[in-house]
Amino acid sequence: MLNSHDHRELLATEAATLVPAVKSFPAVMYLESQRGCPYDCIMCTVPKTYGRRPSEMPDEILDKLNPYFKYVETLAIHGNGEALLSRKMDKYIEIANENGSFLHCNTTGFPLNQRLTNRLVDVKLDLRFSIHAGTAKTYKRVMDNDFEKTIKKIGRLIDLSHQKGHKENTFWLSFIVMKDNVDETEQFINLAYKLGIKEVRFMCLHPNKRTIFGTRRNEKDEKFSHFEQANSTVSARFNKRLPTLKEQAAKLGINIGSGSMNYWSGVNAGLRDVANRFSNKIVKQNIFPISRPRGSCLAPWTGQIQVEQNGDIGLCCSVKHVIGNIYKQSFAEIWHSQHMNEIRDSFSHKKQPRVCGYCRGIGTSEYAIPVNQLIDVKCIEA
Ligand SMILES: C[S@@+](CC[C@H](N)C(=O)[O-])C[C@H]1O[C@@H](n2cnc3c(N)ncnc32)[C@H](O)[C@@H]1O
Ligand code: SF4
Repeated sequence: MLNSHDHRELLATEAATLVPAVKSFPAVMYLESQRGCPYDCIMCTVPKTYGRRPSEMPDEILDKLNPYFKYVETLAIHGNGEALLSRKMDKYIEIANENGSFLHCNTTGFPLNQRLTNRLVDVKLDLRFSIHAGTAKTYKRVMDNDFEKTIKKIGRLIDLSHQKGHKENTFWLSFIVMKDNVDETEQFINLAYKLGIKEVRFMCLHPNKRTIFGTRRNEKDEKFSHFEQANSTVSARFNKRLPTLKEQAAKLGINIGSGSMNYWSGVNAGLRDVANRFSNKIVKQNIFPISRPRGSCLAPWTGQIQVEQNGDIGLCCSVKHVIGNIYKQSFAEIWHSQHMNEIRDSFSHKKQPRVCGYCRGIGTSEYAIPVNQLIDVKCIEA
């Protein structure tokens, strides 16, 4: 196997030239550190699907992946739960530190205590905090938690990162746009400013089996139903506010990154997304989009693979598409399989494979890692 420097060179060349049959390995790997969640965010199906007592990634899988960690530049640890609750946090920090990788996850920040905060600043961090509200009342409704306390915890981590952390650390705030919070986007931007965060994303709400028929935590609560929370009226309200939001963000030095709301608020593909989820369960493939769109995505080269606790390896964290199982094949066999070559071949002809559904794909700006910078250089040179 190549050393990490030579491998980066190889991966960048293969990605820049869109070679279908690669010899390189992914630079971005997602481990399902937790399956199950004790929290109860109103739009999330994880606690109901996987239970409230999270299970951990088996050591056996980590051992099988061990030879490939040296190529990983972003080690992502969120899966179906709250990653920072993992009892293996020290292990993930160690793997990331040993290989100079960023430790990445989407997190609520709820589990951030003094010890964990101190440990986290040891490693390069790429953390995306899920906030989804601009006021304590809406935060309680959506996230079922205390706004002020969580913001304090996140603030402490960011302050310590400025004092002792790695200078490359990146922090985002993310906000799923819905009827209940669409009028709080200005407060959300102000919050990012108060925390010293320079990047925010607006995301769209995905339908799931909990929210399609409506859900509530208590009898006296108002029902939370997908089509009431995310529809063309809510999108129009968001789009109307967007120019003012952009102005406000620019004045505060905050970038509104390319969250899924940028694309979806115009397309409103919720129903087709629901249909894809059902067809995926029954015939194991998406039925929409009917004609394959032109598309590009670097994930089949640089990786965004999803390693599940049962050993399944998913193509990417945005779609449910299993490309193999680590208990049945080696990771090299899975990543270099005929099926993966066909997926890469499709993208090399600018055709998005059907398995990718409505995903818009990722480019080099998705992760600020050395291999992406090298790909940019090679693309300019070509
Ligand atoms: C499954 S969570 C895991 C990470 C972590 N527990 C958290 O809440 O940030 C990954 C991301 O999906 C978001 N999410 C949960 N339910 C969603 C839904 N129905 N539509 C869109 N995003 C959702 C979460 O807020 C979070 O940002
Ligand atoms: S903390 Fe994350 S995984 Fe847990 S319920 Fe909330 S959104 Fe879902």
